Amino acid sequence: MVVVYVIRQKIRLFVLVVAAVLVLASGLWAFPPKYTESAHGNTSYGVNRVSGVSVGNCRHCHEQHKTDSGPYPYALFDDPVGTDWLCLDCHTEGKVENRSYSYRAGGYVLDSVNDIEEMFNLTSHHKLSDILSFIDDKWGFSDQYSSPCVACHDPHYAQKDRKTSSSRGWMLRLPSKHGSIAGSDRLWGDESGERLSSYAGSKQYQAPYRYGSTSYYEPDGSTTTDGSNLTDMNTFCLSCHSSDMSSYGLSHTPIDWSESSGDKHGLYPADGSANLKAPYSDSNTGNYVLACTDCHEPHGSSNIFLIRKEINGSSLTVTSFTGRNMGVICRKCHIDDQAAGFGDDRANHWRYVHHCNDAPFWGKCTDCHSEWSSGRGICDASYNGTATLKWDCDYCHYHGGEDPIRNAGKTF
Ligand code: HEC
Ligand code: HEC
Ligand code: HEC
Ligand code: HEC
Ligand code: HEC
Ligand code: HEC
Ligand code: HEC
Ligand code: HEC
Repeated sequence: MVVVYVIRQKIRLFVLVVAAVLVLASGLWAFPPKYTESAHGNTSYGVNRVSGVSVGNCRHCHEQHKTDSGPYPYALFDDPVGTDWLCLDCHTEGKVENRSYSYRAGGYVLDSVNDIEEMFNLTSHHKLSDILSFIDDKWGFSDQYSSPCVACHDPHYAQKDRKTSSSRGWMLRLPSKHGSIAGSDRLWGDESGERLSSYAGSKQYQAPYRYGSTSYYEPDGSTTTDGSNLTDMNTFCLSCHSSDMSSYGLSHTPIDWSESSGDKHGLYPADGSANLKAPYSDSNTGNYVLACTDCHEPHGSSNIFLIRKEINGSSLTVTSFTGRNMGVICRKCHIDDQAAGFGDDRANHWRYVHHCNDAPFWGKCTDCHSEWSSGRGICDASYNGTATLKWDCDYCHYHGGEDPIRNAGKTF
């Protein structure tokens, strides 16, 4: 029986591979973006696992004659699911070198993380098994056959990221396009309508600075700032995160980035005068829309919540939101009390924005503080008082957060 089963499996695999070559021959090679333009299909730096097989050949991933521990779906050489995660057989330490988003787009070359497997083992990371069950629930990917990585990347078309202004590739695919062979569905970001500038529409995307620079910008170190060179990450991330994910422990979802409601970092305009650092300008407040990847890594981070190790040109560490810790994120783009001129010892203190400018907060000190100095002269640079908040910053600031004390409308 076992023998018959194995033979049947083999016939099925053989038929599948022949069909694959026939069906995909038209698609993979005929019209762009083509397999040969992909990172895996490249004949010099593409896949190269099995000796004696030419670089870039399908057989480095699809093996017709795998017998030892297989067979696996699509005649793959390893299990795309389970503990093996086929992609990580190659995208691991010492095999294929890869970098974080902060490193590549942000130019933060001090980030030592250098392979994908490592990223998915950092303090915070997308959990591959949760990705798999989510895409199965939402789009009916079979979690028996799909690698979770293919939710975001198509192994046949993903291109190498050559982030220079002259020649570059695109590596994402929208999760909803999985299974489609249409040319326009193979990659996300490769067409101009799939860029952040297009998402922003009449609003403005402002690219953050590259690490240590005030002249060059993400994601490619050029002087382009309007997102016309950045994949529309918002549509991409929101294809999953516009869903309620409370069953995955995410109570601040769905994330609302729309124009008529939701976060002020999204299309919905800031209402007062924001207090922004360069390259953002206060005079443009209300017009800006941010990209998810301005603050988040896509795979994982040693910071919590996938927060990047570098934001808007400088590095940060945030492993909890206790006390003022969350402020180390905000001060990459917003004016803290140090930047407001209240003294060098006032880095990551936030009196200016809450009490002095665009300030909704006055009145009963006990509403918010457990102890405080006198409020007299609180907005003078010479004022030296302190106060202790009753809560951490994320009592009010989180995706979809409303200020619960003064009902000052949506905050972030
Ligand atoms: C980097 C590894 C890799 C390479 C190289 C590769 N494939 Fe695949 N292939 C996969 C994975 C993984 C799947 C399963 C995709 C999924 O679950 O969506 C797959 C699925 C398929 C399928 C099933 C239908 C589909 O698209 O999901 C066909 C057909 C196929 N591959 C043909 C090919 C051919 C032909 C080549 C060479 C031109 C090739 N593959 C090269 C990894 C690879
Ligand atoms: C047989 C080894 C192998 C397997 C299996 C493999 N890759 Fe790759 N992958 C490579 C190589 C080699 C490159 C090109 C590396 C380079 O020069 O940057 C690459 C490049 C990529 C790139 C383009 C970005 C870049 O750094 O060049 C993406 C995205 C990618 N792989 C995703 C995947 C996904 C998703 C899977 C599983 C479905 C997978 N890979 C499986 C070897 C592999
Ligand atoms: C939730 C979506 C998502 C999942 C799941 C995901 N990735 Fe990615 N991946 C991204 C994004 C976003 C980028 C950055 C794209 C860009 O810069 O244009 C990226 C970048 C990459 C790169 C390029 C890094 C470099 O050095 O250039 C590789 C390689 C890669 N992913 C492989 C994988 C593998 C392997 C898996 C599964 C273990 C995986 N990804 C799972 C979204 C995802
Ligand atoms: C294919 C669906 C999918 C896509 C696309 C996706 N996510 Fe997620 N994401 C999830 C799921 C499911 C979870 C909850 C479980 C987990 O942590 O993996 C999650 C969790 C998160 C978390 C919380 C992690 C934590 O520490 O609790 C953050 C932050 C996040 N995603 C950001 C992003 C960003 C930024 C993007 C775009 C670059 C993105 N996601 C794209 C499915 C997705
Ligand atoms: C200004 C920086 C910033 C931007 C831009 C940003 N985030 Fe976040 N994100 C955070 C912070 C800080 C947290 C932790 C607080 C919280 O849970 O909201 C977070 C938390 C999350 C979580 C976990 C929510 C939960 O329920 O715990 C997800 C998912 C997420 N972000 C996805 C996204 C997506 C998708 C986008 C783009 C549409 C985005 N983020 C844009 C800073 C940002
Ligand atoms: C009691 C609720 C509450 C707490 C706690 C709180 N904030 Fe705020 N924060 C607000 C409100 C309300 C605004 C103003 C929103 C507006 O302008 O519409 C604000 C504005 C901000 C801004 C934007 C200022 C601008 O105009 O550019 C930043 C940055 C900020 N807070 C950071 C912090 C940090 C860091 C902490 C923790 C030390 C913190 N907040 C604690 C409610 C709060
Ligand atoms: C990558 C840069 C960046 C980071 C990091 C960032 N912000 Fe902002 N923030 C902006 C920009 C730009 C605006 C203006 C949005 C607009 O024009 O609609 C803004 C607007 C706001 C507003 C609305 C102010 C108003 O007057 O309505 C609040 C509140 C806010 N941010 C809070 C925060 C908090 C809290 C953090 C830290 C957790 C943070 N921001 C981190 C760039 C950033
Ligand atoms: C609705 C909430 C709210 C009310 C009411 C409020 N504050 Fe604050 N206050 C804040 C927030 C938020 C901060 C920023 C937290 C920080 O920087 O540690 C702050 C900061 C301060 C600081 C500077 C803290 C430091 O250590 O640098 C002082 C001093 C202060 N408040 C005094 C007062 C006094 C006095 C009153 C009453 C007259 C008052 N506040 C009323 C929310 C409030």
